[in-house]
Formats: sequence, structure tokens, C-alpha cells
Amino acid sequence: MIAITNIRQLITMAGPAHPRTGGELRDIGLVEDACLLVGEDGRILAAGPRAGVSIPPEAQVVDAGGMVVLPGFVDAHTHPVFAGQRADEFEMRAEGSTYQDIAAKGGGIRSTVRLTRAATPDQLLAIASRYAFWFLRGGTTTIEAKSGYGLTLEDELKLLRCIRRVSESTGLRCVPTFLGAHEIPDEFRGRRREYGDLVIHQMLPAVTRERLAEYCDVFCEPDIFDLEESRRVMLAARSFGLGLRMHVDQLSDSDGSLLAAELRVQTADHLENADRFSLQALQRAGVQPVVLPASVYALGSQLYPDARGMIETGLAIVLATDFNPGTSPTTSMPFAMSLAITQMKMTPAEALSAATINAAHSLGRGSDLGSLEPTKLADFVIYEARDWREIVYWVGVPLARSVYIGGHLVFQASLLRNPDRFDVHEFQNSVGP
Ligand code: NIG
Ligand code: FE
Repeated sequence: MIAITNIRQLITMAGPAHPRTGGELRDIGLVEDACLLVGEDGRILAAGPRAGVSIPPEAQVVDAGGMVVLPGFVDAHTHPVFAGQRADEFEMRAEGSTYQDIAAKGGGIRSTVRLTRAATPDQLLAIASRYAFWFLRGGTTTIEAKSGYGLTLEDELKLLRCIRRVSESTGLRCVPTFLGAHEIPDEFRGRRREYGDLVIHQMLPAVTRERLAEYCDVFCEPDIFDLEESRRVMLAARSFGLGLRMHVDQLSDSDGSLLAAELRVQTADHLENADRFSLQALQRAGVQPVVLPASVYALGSQLYPDARGMIETGLAIVLATDFNPGTSPTTSMPFAMSLAITQMKMTPAEALSAATINAAHSLGRGSDLGSLEPTKLADFVIYEARDWREIVYWVGVPLARSVYIGGHLVFQASLLRNPDRFDVHEFQNSVGP
């Protein structure tokens, strides 16, 4: 049993058991001068004002040093398994090329696919584990992790098996999503329907036989998987028992969100080009929108999704990084939240709800993750901050100090100059009142 004491602000996110909408998004369950008690099973026993929590003598006490504690972030949209990087394309875009220009010339997703196919399972595990630690040290304790850089039966299985191994070896919780319909690979250029057949008739059966994925996703764009092909893949995935997520209306307004509403998928992601009419359709269908402002930012675009419109429409908005080597080279949820606040005018509280409890609901984990309430899993982070808003205000500064998953410490920041002597007490003194 562990007791985290001396918490200046505990953000519990306690609230209704459904995905949060409207005014609910602003209620973060802030408790001052708080204590958190975690049982042997890694679940929360108590989370509230210090005076109301009695600490059993056998508990191991961790002094939070008068700092802030938040639930771990739940990043509900990432592409974390790939070889190589695309810094060259980042430079090309600065010089005027567009993402689509680069993709049409054989760069983009297809270039990452070539490198990822060449990597062995162990090489991929080493690469992806490095990114898993980036997530952890940024305060993210759960990610949704997509395949999609293999695009052959064996290579897609290789990526999904890698996701499972990364989760086992690093402790980062991973919810796997099969994204075989991410791009048309080189060997199927001009034969989109045949590639769709491969996804539906060979990949989906093998992925589900090995229970390698909980969700299936598709990159719905006119030049990649158009509405008809996207519908076909999604319906097949549903018949195999997978939950559905979709990349829609990212690069063009192509009615992808209307298809997402028609199919009543779990999430419609991106939505940069979705209008109010589409948002209303998503709301009626009970679809959660996932906004990914870091990918807008890294593409050098100004076209952020209409997050305020989503909230006004009553949608249970989710915020994620979209971590991938092409459009979003970041694992940082605080950075995504900062963009949500400055570019999409979400309030810090709305951004936090979208990054924790609503994200957990979008992954079918709303009763286990996303808030710090009794019986939920003890995934939480102690930050170097005395006001929780500092976490998004000090932009680009990593403030997570101690990251816990299921009550186990998985990351601890240390000071290089004097690592042995660093502890949270000393740290508190240097922060001051
Ligand atoms: O979400 N849109 C499709 N997939 C990614 C980009 C992947 C890549 O460029 O490698 C995204 O932005
Ligand atoms: Fe994506």
C-alpha cells in the first residue's frame, strides 16, 4: 500500500461516469492539501482532502513535496511503431512542399513503410520502446497505438506484436488498433480495391485470430481510402468484433465525418475540415471527436479543428498527440494541450478533461482510467508545479517528476549534477512557496 501525502493540488477528474460534454468538461475535481491512497492491487483506495484520509501504519509514504498530482494522460491516437524519421520532409515543407506533394513523390507514409518493413521484430521493439519512454516521461500512462507502417500481412502482424511487447516491457499501457488501411503500398499502386481485399480477407482474420487489436482504423481521404473503401473496411472490421475509429476530413472536406456518423464509430479523428453540419451528425450518432492540434502545427497549417464548435454542439471531445514521423513528431500531451488552449481556445480544464477522462472513455476504459477515484487504477503523475495550470503554461518544459502506473513508479526525473541527493523534499525547498 502506498500513500502519497503533502499534495498541494490533487486533480481527481472525479465526476459523472459517462464521457463529459459541455459544462462538465470544466469540472476537474480539484482538491487542495490532498492525499492519495493506493492498495496492493494497484487501485485507488482513497483520493481526497488529507484530513479525510486515514493512512494505515503499513503504508509506504511518499511525500509529494507540496506539488501537483494529476491522472496520467491517456493519449487516444498515436502511431508509435515505425523505423526511421522524416526530418527531411519537415525541412522540405519549410521550403514550400506540401504533405501531399511529398507523398505523391513516394515520400510520406510509404517511405516509412519501406524502412519499417526492413526492420526485424527486435529492432522495432528497441525503437518503439524508446518512444514509449518519451510518453512516460511526459506524464502519459496509456496510449492507443496503431499499426499501419507494415501494409503486408506479416508486417502488420509484426507491428501489432511489437505493440504488445512494448507494453509488457515498459509498463506503458497500450490499446492496440489495426490500421492496415493507412495507405496504398507501393506494390498496390493503382489497385486500391485489391489492397482493400487483402486488408479485409487476410489481415483482419489473422489480426483477430491472434487477438492483436481492439480497434480498427482507416485513413479516409479521396486519394487514399475513399468513402466506399472506408465503409467496406469498417464494416468488415465490425463483423470481426473490432471497435471502430476513423481518420476523417484531415486534408480535405470529403464527408468522412458523415460516414463516421452513419457507421456510429467510436471516434472520428482529425476533423480539420469538418463543418458544423458534420459535427451535429457526429453528436446525434454518439461519436467522440478526437482533435490532434500537434499535427496541424507540425504541418505548418493554420487550419485547426473547430473545438469550440464541438463543445457547443455537445460532443465529448478527446485530445491526443497523433504521434507519428510524418505529421506529428511529438509524444507530448502538455504540448498538445497548450496548442488546444492557444490555437483552439479550449480552456485548460476542457483540455485536461479531453486528455484524460474523455480519452479513457473513447478507448472503452472509462471505468478504469482517466480519473483518480476509488477502485480505479492508480496511474498518476507528480509534477514540478504548485498550480496545475503551470503544466500547460510553461510550454515545452517537461515538468513530470514521478510517474506511477498501477501504483508502481515507472519514471523518476533526476538532476544530472547531483543525482544521488535529489529528492522531492529538497526540490520543494528550491521551488519555494
Ligand atoms: O494521422 N493521416 C494519416 N496518418 C498520420 C500520418 C502518418 C504519416 O505521415 O506517417 C496522421 O496524420
Ligand atoms: Fe493519425
